[in-house]
Amino acid sequence: MQATIQASREDYRASDYNKTASFVYSEEFTSPILRCLNPSEGDRIIDLGCGSGELTVKIQDAVGTKGFVVGVDCNEDMLAKASGSGVRNLVLCDIQDLRVPTDVIEEKSFNAAFSNAALHWCKENPSGVLNGIKCVLKDGGRFICEMGGFLNCIGVRLSLHHALRKRGFEPEKIDPWYFPSVKEYRKLLEDGGFRVDSIALVPRITSLNGGGLRDWLELFVRRTFLKTLSDEDAAEIMDEVTQMCSVDMRDEAGNWSVMYARLRFSATLQY
Ligand code: BEZ
Repeated sequence: MQATIQASREDYRASDYNKTASFVYSEEFTSPILRCLNPSEGDRIIDLGCGSGELTVKIQDAVGTKGFVVGVDCNEDMLAKASGSGVRNLVLCDIQDLRVPTDVIEEKSFNAAFSNAALHWCKENPSGVLNGIKCVLKDGGRFICEMGGFLNCIGVRLSLHHALRKRGFEPEKIDPWYFPSVKEYRKLLEDGGFRVDSIALVPRITSLNGGGLRDWLELFVRRTFLKTLSDEDAAEIMDEVTQMCSVDMRDEAGNWSVMYARLRFSATLQY
């Protein structure tokens, strides 16, 4: 079942995502957060920013037929892929403004909310995400999340800002990334009525797939950070950023890595 609450945001296509960024849902990178979620038979879990659904399917398998899992994402193409992969319940919706279609997402009925690699796109309204979760979680329910945090993509972001400013753009105004520190996000959770059970920043060197940083930028930056620029300006900036970053991010064999800093936390909705 797919419910549509808002218009789709076509920031990237599932096929490009799966080609360039399959590490996002790799076993190696996701086992810590899935272990923390520990989905059990009969659980009701909401996956916020589920993307093409690779983790949602795993969670769905773990909760079995007595449980219930729903994936939420704002990109219709990603949801189509998730549906094709077997995710049964999907909602097209911006997770910063989680409107509750009560036939799919019953209020105050979920044991846990889960999110992997999505909340760093929620710069517009970070507390909106928590407000939505509060509406759907049972009191005492858990929120388990991993997202980009302070220092994430260091070097790439600096180079983007530099290349943009040099051309007369104002990078601070168009930068879509929200990479909070432990202190900042802890406060957001506590102000939102959650008890923080654990929170940490975990640096992770992330090897990129074959196309290296240029493909990564094409996927994650062209239609987000650089969405207002012409094709010509955007290509010039992405080439320049690739060139600038090569000194630190390309090894002796020519393989690219990006320094990801993951903010990983577990929190409980207070009674
Ligand atoms: C991340 O997963 O941390 C991320 C991915 C793409 C752009 C920015 C951050």
